[in-house]
Amino acid sequence: MRKKITLSFLLCLVATMTWAEQVVIETRNVSMVLDIVKGAQPQYVYFGAKLNTQELQHLQKPEMFGRMNAYPAYGLNTPAEAALAMRHSDGNLSTALEVEGVQRAGNITTIQLKDPAYPIIVNMKYRTFPEEDMIEAWTEITNNEKQAVTLTTFASAMLPIRRGNVWLSHFYGSWANETQLVEEPITPGQKVIVNKDGTRNSHTNHAEVMFSLDGKGQENCGQVIGAALCYSGNYRLKVTTDDTEYHYFFAGINEDNSEYHLKKGETFVTPKLALTFSQQGLSGVSRNFHKWGRKYMLAHGDKERKILLNSWEGVYFDINQKGMDQMMEDIASMGGELFVMDDGWFGDKYPRKTDNSSLGDWVVDKNKLPEGIEGLLRDAKKHGIKFGIWIEPEMANTTSELYEAHPDWIVKAPKRDAILGRGGTQVVLDLSNPKVQDFVFSIVDNLLTKYPEIDYIKWDANMPILNHGSQYLTMNEQSHLYIEYHRGFEKACQRIRAKFPDVTIQACASGGGRANWGVLPYFDEFWVSDNTDALQRIYMQWGTSYFFPAIAMASHISATPNHTVFRTTALKYRIDVAMSGRLGMEIQPRNMTDDEKELCRKAIAEYKQIRPIVQFGNIYRLVSPYDKKGLASLMYVTDQQDKAVFYWWKTESFQNEHLPRVKMAGLDANRMYKVHELNRIDLKPMSIEGKSFSGAYLMNHGLDMPYRNETEWSKKNDWSSRVLLLEAE
Ligand code: DGJ
Repeated sequence: MRKKITLSFLLCLVATMTWAEQVVIETRNVSMVLDIVKGAQPQYVYFGAKLNTQELQHLQKPEMFGRMNAYPAYGLNTPAEAALAMRHSDGNLSTALEVEGVQRAGNITTIQLKDPAYPIIVNMKYRTFPEEDMIEAWTEITNNEKQAVTLTTFASAMLPIRRGNVWLSHFYGSWANETQLVEEPITPGQKVIVNKDGTRNSHTNHAEVMFSLDGKGQENCGQVIGAALCYSGNYRLKVTTDDTEYHYFFAGINEDNSEYHLKKGETFVTPKLALTFSQQGLSGVSRNFHKWGRKYMLAHGDKERKILLNSWEGVYFDINQKGMDQMMEDIASMGGELFVMDDGWFGDKYPRKTDNSSLGDWVVDKNKLPEGIEGLLRDAKKHGIKFGIWIEPEMANTTSELYEAHPDWIVKAPKRDAILGRGGTQVVLDLSNPKVQDFVFSIVDNLLTKYPEIDYIKWDANMPILNHGSQYLTMNEQSHLYIEYHRGFEKACQRIRAKFPDVTIQACASGGGRANWGVLPYFDEFWVSDNTDALQRIYMQWGTSYFFPAIAMASHISATPNHTVFRTTALKYRIDVAMSGRLGMEIQPRNMTDDEKELCRKAIAEYKQIRPIVQFGNIYRLVSPYDKKGLASLMYVTDQQDKAVFYWWKTESFQNEHLPRVKMAGLDANRMYKVHELNRIDLKPMSIEGKSFSGAYLMNHGLDMPYRNETEWSKKNDWSSRVLLLEAE
């Protein structure tokens, strides 16, 4: 009898036995921990500083009344926010996700989930980048039901952020005022950051945020989580602080008007959410993103960028052969390496005179350029520089031969008139249509096949989707437009990169509308803003630097009064600001004085000297312009800590106003660094010129900067700035 009981007990035990596993996803300095029990929902446990084996065995698990499901699905815990919600083929709105297994392949961990009642498979994926401390998280949803299901919520990932005085750093803006930094404590309720532009996605809000875990974020100390959704289209980032007082962070495609009918057998792959953690403050998170971005995301992230002149602010639409030749000659004489001809060069039946025609007709306007692109390439060669060209491939004007031939190619709701954009005639091409994808590819293909010497393309995009509707998608698929547009965009970009891996391509979108890690694998850089005013650029570039490295930030010296804010700043100031990114010029050199040209010539020569430090160095932001101390300052330091460039810009000017001394960061405390001022306009060198200071002194004490540039009386101005090169001895 006794024996019998034991046997049945054992059989019962075997039948109900579940396996459990602690899944640790880790990089050099970061651990993410999930608890996995077969047949149960995966539980989030930890994300933060790296844990050792012993610590992993003694973790306190957050007890949050079932609120730690790592990828919560809607239906069985309805008061909680869901990462996934769907309408099953029979109409059931509830989904349950239970662990089936865990797989590891190289640096990818997959947690397989399954709905016990419906053949829906959800794979939570994590890819690690050990040296850069980055973890990419995304989800793959497969429908094995007999008919289509409809996805209504489909976040890439969810991350619970622990209780406490957590602050959010995020970015908002608008055209010509992109990437303004906002820092705020997270309070109960929801904070939602969305984009609904349809085509571009970083003019207004940004798809990147940082969470400072212990109060307002500091630049060079403190625990900070960084997150970037890598996606070119509409997104939604959401932080929900509920009665548990945990902060639940969801990120993914914006599902508004985008429910997705997932066919039988189809897999929906969400965009990746890149996550990092640093104990070295906000700048520490930036450095992780910059390193990962340069190495794995950005096109040619390991190659120095050329110094260029772009024709836009110099001549706008007034393109002609002689003018282009003159601009090329001027930039070459100042030491530049590339000339980019912007808008206005194309159109046959409808020549592009202003912004109301010709997009789509990518043939040279022979009246403006009788010798065609051949003539321009010849002139560039003559001046010893490279040549680049502007296009806007995703767009058309209704006044164009393209539109006349293919009115069905534009984004427009069936039975409705198109809403027109820039110039009163601009329309967006419907990239969900494979024929449009072919056309977009062919624009670049035709140019680069015919003219392989073209070195650089500026790819612009000046219109949002203003009216929802595709003439290509079926009526049942209309809600796929936003998603299919970006799939089409990516497909075209992938084909371009496969055929033309070496060309440099700038992502421009009415200025800074395409600063996103989902775009940059196909692009080498982005245009930060149409606003080139140096003062406002300090604020915009500061915000941009949180997630994007200087090598990707196109930053140009332009004329004053500035063409957007009409402010007049000193040329030295404009140079010093532009030199903290990928330096270029956007000006009519013919209108510059000899003195101004000489200053730019000197700056270009000096930038060449510091280019590797700026473009590949590690950023340390020191004094924020947003703190309104009258000053902004940051520096870049090489990996070897043997060289650094220090920037100091005044952001206001009052007589006898004292500015804070700036403590440097990122140097080797034990080395001596020799100081040399770049772009000097002062009559006499600063007292620190050529002197050496220890890294410890520079970081603990800092250097006093004279508050003004001491020039001849007639050249004095209120926009003082300094750039210092530090070299270890
Ligand atoms: C918008 C861009 O942001 C500008 O730099 C310029 O290329 C114009 N478009 C040209 O139309």
